[in-house]
Amino acid sequence: PFPTTMSAPIRVLVTGAAGQIGYSIVLQIAKGDVFGPNQKVTLVLLDIPAFATPLEGVKLELIDCALPTLAGVEAVTTEAEAFHDIDYAFLIGAMPRKEGMERKDLLAANVKIFKSQGLALAKYAKPSVKILVVGNPANTNALIAAKYAAGKVPLENFSAMTRLDHNRAAAQVALKVGVPVENVKNVIIWGNHSSTQFPDVAHAKVLKNGQEVDAVGAINDTAYLQGDFISTVQKRGAVIIEKRKLSSAMSAAKAAVDHIRTWHVGTKPGEFVSMAVASDGSYGIPKGLIFSFPVTIENGKWSIVQGLKIDEFAQGKINATTKELEDERTDALEACGESKQ
Ligand code: NAD
Ligand code: LMR
Repeated sequence: PFPTTMSAPIRVLVTGAAGQIGYSIVLQIAKGDVFGPNQKVTLVLLDIPAFATPLEGVKLELIDCALPTLAGVEAVTTEAEAFHDIDYAFLIGAMPRKEGMERKDLLAANVKIFKSQGLALAKYAKPSVKILVVGNPANTNALIAAKYAAGKVPLENFSAMTRLDHNRAAAQVALKVGVPVENVKNVIIWGNHSSTQFPDVAHAKVLKNGQEVDAVGAINDTAYLQGDFISTVQKRGAVIIEKRKLSSAMSAAKAAVDHIRTWHVGTKPGEFVSMAVASDGSYGIPKGLIFSFPVTIENGKWSIVQGLKIDEFAQGKINATTKELEDERTDALEACGESKQ
């Protein structure tokens, strides 16, 4: 639960704050949707120098919101100003993909941002800082940021966002069963935030007619669950780009808010959420890959849910997304000038 008395401000960095997701997310953070109505925040907004003026405009609007939870706003264009002493970082600033691209096509352009920000985290941030990477390809960017912050910021403080995919999967289940989305829990996104991700309902529950039942039984349509359900979630980002000519921003900002709020306050009893974190070898995933797992969270620490049964179909999907993440890691390290692994 959120604290009940007003607490001293925490410093929260949003990168890419002059961009689309930035504009959608800053108000939500500033007004308490993430850290609660009794936690003051100082918002640090970073964008590139070419966007200093629109960034200043976002800062002025935040001031004009007259929010009791907003202790201050800093609009900055250097990593030194942005990263010093922060408690949380929403690393959003990066190039978005256009129609016809896969997210990994952004790797060459974006991975260097995360190398530089990893080094900046090591130099300026508190070792306790918690980091969410949203900029794509999110899992691999998080791996690179963590690598360059190693020795200062622990690996478990890094995460990448698959909560949007998690929310998309829960919403599809709710629509199919005909229940409100809050009646759906424990869908899982395994692997990469990409078209190889595996949205899995095998362990999900649905509250229907006052009873908690297995989502698989409530849906009762294997062809759908192994076909259209998976591809709808896998391809949702591309469909949004096709229709909006811009990538998802409102739903992405909402998912980032959900991700950090859950990390901050914890999961509810019996609930797990999807979060891309460093593998510890669970479910046979190579150690160190930033892989989306089902996690529970207590006292600000996530734990991968253990012992879930993985059938042959699921294993095939998990293998495919693992392979893609291993390939992305190789390409990213090469782009960062590291020798091939
Ligand atoms: P956008 O182009 O509207 O905004 C990006 C902003 O980042 C721009 O203002 C740009 O100037 C800034 N920027 C670029 N390099 C920077 C740097 N080094 N430091 C600070 N700021 C920098 O894009 P958007 O729609 O807000 O999307 C941002 C990223 O988030 C994209 O990579 C997109 O693909 C990704 N995304 C991820 C998810 C997810 O679920 N993980 C969901 C949606 C979007
Ligand atoms: C999404 O899932 O909507 C984002 O990652 C944007 C994209 O490129 O699909």
